[in-house]
Amino acid sequence: PPLSEILNLHDFEAIARLTMPEKAWAYYSSASDDEITNRENHAAFHRIWFRPRIMRDVTKVDWSTTILGHQSRMPIYITATALGKLGHPDGELNLTRAAARHGVIQMIPTLSSCSFDEIVDAAQPGQVQFFQLYVNKDRAMTKRIVQQAEKRGIQALFITVDAPQLGRREKDMRMTFDAADPHEIGKSGSDQVDRSRGAAKAITGFIDPGLKWADIPWFKSITKVPLVLKGVQTWEDALEAYDQNLAGVVLSNHGGRQLDFARSGIEVLVEVVEKFKEKRGITFPNDRFQLFVDGGVRRATDVLKAIALGATAVGIGRPFLYAFSTYGVDGVDHALQILQDELEMNLRLLGARTIRDVVPAMVDASNIHSH
Ligand code: FNR
Repeated sequence: PPLSEILNLHDFEAIARLTMPEKAWAYYSSASDDEITNRENHAAFHRIWFRPRIMRDVTKVDWSTTILGHQSRMPIYITATALGKLGHPDGELNLTRAAARHGVIQMIPTLSSCSFDEIVDAAQPGQVQFFQLYVNKDRAMTKRIVQQAEKRGIQALFITVDAPQLGRREKDMRMTFDAADPHEIGKSGSDQVDRSRGAAKAITGFIDPGLKWADIPWFKSITKVPLVLKGVQTWEDALEAYDQNLAGVVLSNHGGRQLDFARSGIEVLVEVVEKFKEKRGITFPNDRFQLFVDGGVRRATDVLKAIALGATAVGIGRPFLYAFSTYGVDGVDHALQILQDELEMNLRLLGARTIRDVVPAMVDASNIHSH
């Protein structure tokens, strides 16, 4: 169908399922074990309801914000997802180009299909990009990657901490990863590649399960860019990140692709905000330490729920993959346009003129913990 018939982010998934190469669909859509957490990522948003305000002159509304000190036209960023070329020959460049058009930030994955340099080169002057880091067992290699990223203008480093080992994604495991694929990963992985059990297993043997809190000072010593931990799932770990002076955390379960029965990021957000207030007297949003959420965000209403509860911004993954797998860069462009239109409308309906007006009292999250 023409893009004009795509009315929401779910539509991209339905079309992708019918038209995408089987292997790409298996890798992108899969989650771990029984995929309960993946389902919960959506369900958790359905347990939060709005308390909209009226009569507040919402003629003009503004949904722009600041993420780690950088302007973003929406409180949304494109999160890191590996292997962009499985879905489209231009891979991650589709995301870079659409992000430029819409003034949003792209997080470049360690395991991109296009090389890191290609993705940075494709950015417009002044376009902000973050980098997602899988920590290599070879720390000299990690150091090189981080310093190269910093030199090329990356503005923040998101260290993935929820993947000491890859989860069992059985849809993906039923596929073999073809060495002759033109989708071969970029340069950051290793040469020990196991091709017998899907894309995920093939590319992740280098990740260091030995990563620990005591490594944080080392990361700080090799780079000046803000450090954020991606994949935090409890208030205890969020507080540790805060106490170690990191710039923030992404409350995330990796799109349900790691530990099945991990809770959704939006649910964890509620406990994090509560405990930070109790233990450190801190409220959110907060410039010294920012909270991000990803997993299951498909509507501006999801975005606004996270903002109301204290998140600075949310990450979106699969919808953009489905969008470029079906329509290339125009698909991603359209997906971002849909989100923007939804943000404008829902801010009005909520009675908020700006993102800062979206406050905790605008949501009822009292049932968030009831499973
Ligand atoms: C991911 N994600 C991910 N995260 C990461 O830190 N490094 C990575 O290489 C990848 N790769 C990846 C591939 C694919 C195909 C998916 C779907 C996800 C996790 C990603 O950053 C994010 O946490 C989730 O995708 C968010 O959930 P949604 O928006 O996909 O529901």
